[in-house]
Amino acid sequence: MNKDYVVITGAYGGLGEAMAYRFAQAGFGIVLLGRSPEKLKALETDLQKYTDVLSVTCDVSDWESCVKAHGLIEASNLSVKILINNAGITYIHRFDENYDIQKFQNLVLTNLNGSVYLTKLFLKELLSKKGSIINISSVIGYAPVIGRTAYAASKFGMEGFFSVLAAEWEQKLHIMMVYPTFIATHIRENTVGKQEVNEILTPEVVAEQIFKAFQSKKERVYIGKTAKLSKLMYKFFPKLYVHLMRQKISKNL
Ligand SMILES: NC(=O)c1ccc[n+]([C@@H]2O[C@H](COP(=O)([O-])OP(=O)(O)OC[C@H]3O[C@@H](n4cnc5c(N)ncnc54)[C@H](OP(=O)(O)O)[C@@H]3O)[C@@H](O)[C@H]2O)c1
Repeated sequence: MNKDYVVITGAYGGLGEAMAYRFAQAGFGIVLLGRSPEKLKALETDLQKYTDVLSVTCDVSDWESCVKAHGLIEASNLSVKILINNAGITYIHRFDENYDIQKFQNLVLTNLNGSVYLTKLFLKELLSKKGSIINISSVIGYAPVIGRTAYAASKFGMEGFFSVLAAEWEQKLHIMMVYPTFIATHIRENTVGKQEVNEILTPEVVAEQIFKAFQSKKERVYIGKTAKLSKLMYKFFPKLYVHLMRQKISKNL
């Protein structure tokens, strides 16, 4: 029987790598997508101890690059059963006169368009196998956080896009949105005005919870206390949520 493969974007990033190992340990083949051939090769070499691996360079913000990567994967005749839209960047800045519109554009192209491009390219195959699309969102995918207008636009955009897609392909496709709290990864190196956080999870802990939620075919998974608490507080006490969030973050931005 053909092995089922998981395609992971942003594969050598903190969470991408942890998910690659977790799904590899469960017996899936892994397709690693990322921009740096050297980093892809290094991860591929180690991951091959556990499973079959293909790595393909791909800039998810660029449609042509996604088409090319998809063509190479298709030519390898692998059975792709899961797509994980994980590649993501951040830009933390108040929306003021110094706000950088190019950074906004690049962020939305990466986080939102990238997820849409890969979904478009793998949709037919995933539908034919009743496969899964796992989308890595964030607390900022449902609740506001100061300084994250671009990030929120991209993650709320994913929310809207994938909720319609789920309704269009109900029963034929499993779509899961993942809302993790803070994770100790490279993305945090771009954080300006260092933010103190109550809770920071390791990528391995988050990957384990994503894997379990995938196995139970969940549609939404909130990972970490902050994610769960913010969800409830913003839903039932939105003004209190904004007040507390501003108190915690305003002084840093
Ligand atoms: N860390 C957190 O606190 C946190 C919390 C909630 C949600 N998330 C989400 O988790 C996901 C993974 O992020 P992470 O925390 O693991 O950060 P990370 O370590 O910085 O990894 C991000 C990955 O995305 C890749 N990437 C960026 N732009 C790309 C592009 N145009 N094309 C292809 N790959 C690209 C990066 O590759 P390069 O090195 O080549 O740029 C890197 O491999 C993101 O969607 C993020 O929004 C993170």
